[in-house]
Amino acid sequence: MSDPVEIQVVDLPGHEGEEVRLRGWVETVRLHGRVAFVVLRDGSGIVQCVVQKAAVGEELWEEVSQLSQESSVAIRGAVEREPRSPGGFEVKVAEMKVLGRADEFPIQPKEHGVEFLMDHRHLWLRSTLQRAVLRVRHEVTHAIHEFFYAEGFTRIDTPILTGSIGESAGTLFSTDYFGETAYLAQTGQLYLEAACPAFGKVYCFGPTFRAEKSKTRRHLTEFWMVEPEVAFADSEENMRLQERFVSHLVRWAIERCAPELETLERDTSSLERVSAPFPRISYSDAVELLRQKGSEIEWGSDLGGADETLIAEEFELPVFVFNYPREAKAFYMKENPADPRTVLCNDLIAPEGYGEIIGGSQREDDPERLLRRIREEDLPEEAYEWYLDLRRYGTFVHSGFGLGIERTVAWITGRPHVRELIPFPRLMNRLAP
Ligand code: 4AD
Ligand code: MG
Repeated sequence: MSDPVEIQVVDLPGHEGEEVRLRGWVETVRLHGRVAFVVLRDGSGIVQCVVQKAAVGEELWEEVSQLSQESSVAIRGAVEREPRSPGGFEVKVAEMKVLGRADEFPIQPKEHGVEFLMDHRHLWLRSTLQRAVLRVRHEVTHAIHEFFYAEGFTRIDTPILTGSIGESAGTLFSTDYFGETAYLAQTGQLYLEAACPAFGKVYCFGPTFRAEKSKTRRHLTEFWMVEPEVAFADSEENMRLQERFVSHLVRWAIERCAPELETLERDTSSLERVSAPFPRISYSDAVELLRQKGSEIEWGSDLGGADETLIAEEFELPVFVFNYPREAKAFYMKENPADPRTVLCNDLIAPEGYGEIIGGSQREDDPERLLRRIREEDLPEEAYEWYLDLRRYGTFVHSGFGLGIERTVAWITGRPHVRELIPFPRLMNRLAP
């Protein structure tokens, strides 16, 4: 097997009529008398390979008829147009070599329980559906960097091991750090705020950690968040950036992921409508609305998942809920001068019950008020000396937000649970594989 060029499935259209070599994994084998149909997956796509007993001889035919699902193989054959085949091409096999014979594959084309699939996540990734989901994640990730690059943001990589609590003391993972306590980052935000006076517009994108004791379809203990931070932007501008950003991500996915969204049977009509501006409702009006709809929420508490779904029902687009009560949100949010019981912040709630995909706010830029909030929350003051410095040396109006990629891609793909939106999910009851 030396002469013909080795290609990938995605390149087949450019090689019609030629003999090529391919390597990949066997998805299925069907035997029809003296013909075998082998569906080969190589990561770039799938192609049907046709083996005719008469053409390959006894020995290879024997091997093909024993071929097990997920064996890795190398083939040589001629590329032919075949409209009935997935992708429109097929390979007429002249030679095939088994590179790695697979034992009986645990995942079969039948119903498996989700825990079984999660236990076999390392193998489940190969399925058509999971590949489609993670391809959309990949495209959305690309769109994130593309958007911020075009907007003149500088990417800042923020630390994962931190000494100061980023969001709240309730959901921290901590670890011993040479006798000190280190926390796994809940956010990169505080460090981005430090980078703002150096670069103006910055963002980070990385894993963040929350010891959430909740087993909902929206919570991971390790998730990826993209966080921009903008100098001299107020809460209004912050929401305008969010609606442009989210519209960009959705449009990108629709344009680049049509085959994947079709595989996932995602009805894209609601996604097609997503464009700025998004509707907005104040927290106080949202509470009013929720109570009319039968919720027992009291002014002052954060919205739960069920509340968010009730609000989303009222709107076709993602909806901003803005200016929450101070006690429901993090210490760094700026007090609302028009109503000091509230802070200048917003959540963005996705349609169709996918819940909060963004949390954002204007930051408290007054050093005294910020220190008061740190004390009120019982946070260790010494750990925030450097953060308070940012208010001591040229304080400035600034805002930013965090978008959780798993929840966002769950919404875009229409998958019900965030565990499928990350290659190897970390959940309260799952650390393996
Ligand atoms: O609202 P959060 O906690 O905001 C922050 O962390 C801010 N520091 C962001 C900022 O202003 N720079 O989280 C932001 C988003 C949520 O809206 C949600 O999409 C996602 O992160 N998120 C989670 N996703 C999956 N599992 C979890 N446990 C999540 N917690 C938050
Ligand atoms: Mg939030």
